[in-house]
Amino acid sequence: MNTAFLWHNGRIKPWAEATVHVSTHALHYGSSVFEGERVYATPNGPAYFRLADHTQRLFESARVYDIAIGYSEDEISTACLELIRANGMRSAYVRPIVFRGAGGLGVLPKQGAPVEVAIMALDWGAYLGEAIEKGADVCVSSWHRPAPNTLPSWAKAGGNYLSSQLIAAEARRGGYDEGIALGHNGLLSEGAGENLFLVKKGKLLTPPTSAGILAGITRDSVIALAADLGLTLEERDLPREALYSADEIFMTGTAAEITPVRSVDRKTVGRGEPGPITRALQQAFFGLFDGRTEDRRGWLEYVDKEASRAVALDREDQDAAIRGRTTSSTAVVPDREDQQAAIHGRTTSSTAVVPDREDQQAAIHGRTPQKEPASMEVSA
Ligand SMILES: Cc1ncc(COP(=O)(O)O)c(C=O)c1O
Repeated sequence: MNTAFLWHNGRIKPWAEATVHVSTHALHYGSSVFEGERVYATPNGPAYFRLADHTQRLFESARVYDIAIGYSEDEISTACLELIRANGMRSAYVRPIVFRGAGGLGVLPKQGAPVEVAIMALDWGAYLGEAIEKGADVCVSSWHRPAPNTLPSWAKAGGNYLSSQLIAAEARRGGYDEGIALGHNGLLSEGAGENLFLVKKGKLLTPPTSAGILAGITRDSVIALAADLGLTLEERDLPREALYSADEIFMTGTAAEITPVRSVDRKTVGRGEPGPITRALQQAFFGLFDGRTEDRRGWLEYVDKEASRAVALDREDQDAAIRGRTTSSTAVVPDREDQQAAIHGRTTSSTAVVPDREDQQAAIHGRTPQKEPASMEVSA
């Protein structure tokens, strides 16, 4: 799991050298805020997904607890990029953390008490393993999420994850992959480390950000991609029983990406396999990283901007050359292998396609697209 280097208090240093004292405030009182980010291996080189948004949320979390980070947002984002370069990684799960350091005990930190900042980059695959393809078996936890006026759920703070640990541990003990928590009012909130989406009669439903959830960046991305696909979505309060009558359910998160749910409390969801809307959203999401989905919102931040620009220009030339040809180019509907490869962040040697709106609609409705889309080699 360890990589050669991490970033700690302004410096890239060897993994083993980043240590803290046992009197560290965060160790005693949970006073840390952190992020979970992913770097994907794209055809244009490694790229962070929504780095600026993650950095912004890190600062917003710190602000809730009056933790002065001591670096600018730009400096933290730059450090994240540098770390991937230093470790020579093509893909990664990245964990920036800001925590109150060793400045004496006492719940309220002393004026000027130290704050430490570290960034780790790990080699992490699918968070819930093969559930990303087959679907996860989940349960509703007996543990509820903290009420909004207890621990603020929008702040991604270390202390919040005690609640997540109780939920996840209970689920694992019961033989489930993950636990879903209700909020203080008994309505659906979120998973131990994921946001929650349901599909009912073709409509997407998700609890609102006031439901004691972390306002997930993947959740926000899925909402945007759903709009691109022409899907209707409602953010609204949902009772527990909505899980038992949903046609499809999936969970979202940086670690969990888009993980389908195939059963809740041992009751099968739909046909017990990922449904067409979940699949279409997975395809649109993972397509961002292999070039099948256009990055319309500038969500990808390339680790090596110069190299990625050169590849992009080269590809533009190739595309122009392909378009200029009078013979019809080979067009391929993405096959199952390509989709699976996309799900695992692998690039395939086969010809991949950029699914357009019509193809994605076709995927949702289980139709085969009528026209052949433009082809594009995935080469990295
Ligand atoms: C409790 C909780 N909810 C939701 C999420 C999803 O958030 P994001 O998509 O920003 O990773 C996470 C993951 O960070 C989480 O820990």
